[in-house]
Amino acid sequence: MPPVELPIKVASPQKTTPIMKYAILGDIHANLEALRAVLEDAATQDVGRYLCVGDIVGYNADPNECVKIVRDLDCVTVRGNHDHYVSENDALGDLNPVAANVVRWTRAELGPDHLSYLSGLRLVQAVDGFTLVHSTLDMPEKWGYVFEVVEADASFNYQTTAVCFHGHTHVPVLYEKASGVRRSGYKCLKATMGKKYFINVGSVGQPRDGDPRAAYVVYDGEGRDVELRRVRYDVTTAQEKILAAGLPKALAARLAVGK
Ligand SMILES: [Fe+2]
Repeated sequence: MPPVELPIKVASPQKTTPIMKYAILGDIHANLEALRAVLEDAATQDVGRYLCVGDIVGYNADPNECVKIVRDLDCVTVRGNHDHYVSENDALGDLNPVAANVVRWTRAELGPDHLSYLSGLRLVQAVDGFTLVHSTLDMPEKWGYVFEVVEADASFNYQTTAVCFHGHTHVPVLYEKASGVRRSGYKCLKATMGKKYFINVGSVGQPRDGDPRAAYVVYDGEGRDVELRRVRYDVTTAQEKILAAGLPKALAARLAVGK
């Protein structure tokens, strides 16, 4: 395996002045080809800081390489359910058999330093006036899914910032709360003062919205502009790695269709 080279120069998270443009990645799921393609795209977007809404590992075949990249980027990262199960030795009863299979494989693959890093991730992080969480803000440790307005509304009760980015479903949708809560797809959005937004950034490494391209968000904190970006990557190589690792064939097949 050749060394992983970052295509970008990254800013330090200790910077005191707010950085205005952020790349927000989620559900990377150990897909190195997708992550590299996303970072190459982000390097064209004048991004100053990289953030991650969790699930760096699981499902694909390059967990060590992906964790290393995220750490080298100084990403502010929250813990995803796969990051949790891989690093905590919890019972895997909540996971479907395929996911549990990959968690066991990933536990054996990851080096101790990367496992320790994943174990230390927090469930919720505030960043320059907005929030990151993997699942929901009302019960982030329960790993509940937000598919509908009612689930988003429960999370909004605990959202103290205007904008919160999340992942977990691998489907890029947004929830907007004004007098009620509205659900919609999005490509570009300008967040309006006086409203709250709970925004799923989609998945870098295993999209499930029918579009196999990697997904991530560029957020301009100054204008509160959100852009969902989709990036083609080398799906074939990612599939070959899954099969070579002896991981379930279904995980390779789904990458081609984004489901
Ligand atoms: Fe995930």
